[in-house]
Amino acid sequence: MTHRYSRIVGTGSVLPPRIVTNEQLVAELGSRGIDTSDQWIVERTGIRQRHLADEGVTSSRLAAEAGRRALAAAQLGPTDLDLIIVATSTPDFVFPSTACLVQKELGAPGGAAFDVQAVCTGFVYAFAVADSMIRGGLAHRALVVGAEVFSRILDWNDRGTCVLFGDGAGAVVLAGADQPGVLAAKLHADGRHESILRTAGNVCHGEITGHPYLTMDGQAVFKLAVSVLDSVARETLDAAGLSIEAVDWMIPHQANVRILNATARRLGIPMSKVIVTVDEHANTSAASIPLALDRAVRDGRIRAGQHVLMEGVGGGFTWGAALVRF
Ligand code: ACO
Repeated sequence: MTHRYSRIVGTGSVLPPRIVTNEQLVAELGSRGIDTSDQWIVERTGIRQRHLADEGVTSSRLAAEAGRRALAAAQLGPTDLDLIIVATSTPDFVFPSTACLVQKELGAPGGAAFDVQAVCTGFVYAFAVADSMIRGGLAHRALVVGAEVFSRILDWNDRGTCVLFGDGAGAVVLAGADQPGVLAAKLHADGRHESILRTAGNVCHGEITGHPYLTMDGQAVFKLAVSVLDSVARETLDAAGLSIEAVDWMIPHQANVRILNATARRLGIPMSKVIVTVDEHANTSAASIPLALDRAVRDGRIRAGQHVLMEGVGGGFTWGAALVRF
């Protein structure tokens, strides 16, 4: 049976238990001669702390735990799934995909499982693909996960990037439905900007080639991010035939509180309608949107019938949005 719509029937998330505050990070970096301060980090980014995974904790492990929690919220079991998509830029391996490892870990064999690579827009890409597959009859119940251990690809000697990121995972279960659900989704990329945010390394002939750490032109990313988050929000609302006033909650990718403020201001959405977790989680790339979504669902802010606009932006350069009725 093909469904006309898909809808979110459960959310879940997980953060590694180890919290590193700005003060702790500043002290650790300082002991190695790297000069930064809590004040610089808070003023420029809004970040106050991040969760970091211990050695050996992988994206697949975090993804599977977030998935278990989303399934429990949906009152479904792993064998109810026929699709698993994991958005990650920090997969466990070159292959198999993190999604296949999650499928094995959950005990959900048989359905389709694959990873999506769109960096910080990864969750929105994966979500839109799962929605399309459900509406197209290729799947009925999908687990869509954003999971990252970005701490593994950071250059901990580069104060311009290492203070910005954290680890974690968030997930939703999307199920076929006769009522929406997902009202509209829009995805974009412009590879001409690939060099402003990248981890330009690989494994080749058994050795690491290129530069295996994240590099970024922060100001170029900032300007592009604010511009595309504005345009894709309007485009997605237009596609659904809804106005900005119809948005009950906006969940932008949690990169930087200044990007969130600027985006909300341009759209005319008050910050009271924006879910903010970047202060506590830092930037968790593909995990940031489902982590923030799960937080707001569980604390009761997001209620049945409300419209939630999720917006991603990241390396590639990629961006996209999905508008959902809960
Ligand atoms: N502590 C202290 N000083 C620092 C630090 C630090 N951690 N990092 C950089 N600086 C210094 C620089 O060396 C520079 O010093 P100088 O003037 O003596 O050369 C000064 O601060 C200003 O550096 P800029 O890079 O120009 O700082 P800017 O005001 O642009 O802030 C930031 C940097 C926060 C990264 C900003 O550009 C930004 O918000 N960019 C958006 C990108 C972002 O958030 N990326 C996250 C990942 S991308 C994504 O998720 C889409």
